[in-house]
Amino acid sequence: MARRIVITSGKGGVGKTTICAMIGMKLAELGFRVAILDLDIGLNNLDVVLGMEKSINYDLLDVIAGNCRLKQALVQHEKIPNLYIMASTNSYDDSQITKEQIKSVVDTLSQTFDYVLLDCPAGVEDGFKRAVYSANEAIVVVTPHISSVRDADKVLSILARYDLLSKNLVVNRVRGDLIANYETLDLEEIIRFLKIKLLGVIPDDDIITKGETLNMLHSEQLGRSVSLLVENLHNGTRKIYDCGKKYRGFWGIIRRNIKKRI
Ligand SMILES: Nc1ncnc2c1ncn2[C@@H]1O[C@H](COP(=O)(O)OP(=O)(O)O)[C@@H](O)[C@H]1O
Ligand SMILES: [Mg+2]
Repeated sequence: MARRIVITSGKGGVGKTTICAMIGMKLAELGFRVAILDLDIGLNNLDVVLGMEKSINYDLLDVIAGNCRLKQALVQHEKIPNLYIMASTNSYDDSQITKEQIKSVVDTLSQTFDYVLLDCPAGVEDGFKRAVYSANEAIVVVTPHISSVRDADKVLSILARYDLLSKNLVVNRVRGDLIANYETLDLEEIIRFLKIKLLGVIPDDDIITKGETLNMLHSEQLGRSVSLLVENLHNGTRKIYDCGKKYRGFWGIIRRNIKKRI
């Protein structure tokens, strides 16, 4: 039976889909069979982030409507054979989709995969509830900004009503130069406020901004930070990537100054 993990946040644009894709890629590279389900109906972009949009013929709605078999909507990644995705639909009308229908898809996937990752839409409305209903664990993504942390706090209070085995935190888009200059929200402060375990810290990285998906894990800092996060997820360890390290010490001060001028 697969671990079913919903990646959620409350606030949009904090990196749920990106984190979902990176965790999926890394787990698959390690040999686990991974299925990622895009549950952001109408604003779906998981296929694009993974460079798989041209391979999508059927989506989740087709499976639910009986237009295709589940297998036909499950697309294998060209370069990472253990990674499969099921895209969501571009249609904005999600009123026909129930949480039970999604759970039935997730239940079926759980029988043949090690991990089923659920890419959750922003907000705490129906789409969010549908995604959480099928999960037994949650990863809450925040960026080091007050608005994001406050939204995550609201999400956590709602998640408390669900019977989840674990709730973990990922802090995304952390800027090491700002940490070293004390110019960003302190990680310890975020953890103290949200009162959940930190699973990983992911740096802000131009490779993601440029959309070079497949290179994401080959960038030194992203590769290392995602490896540690996935190790923590799989083994229950708590090894956290230190985003500020390269901005400390003599060379660190020079790097910080260069970054400030860019
Ligand atoms: N660690 C990061 N470094 C740089 N850009 C990032 C990072 N994480 C996410 N992004 C960018 O932020 C934007 C929103 O990310 P996305 O994963 O779509 O968020 P969400 O799914 O929460 O709406 C995208 O343009 C993405 O490329
Ligand atoms: Mg998204």
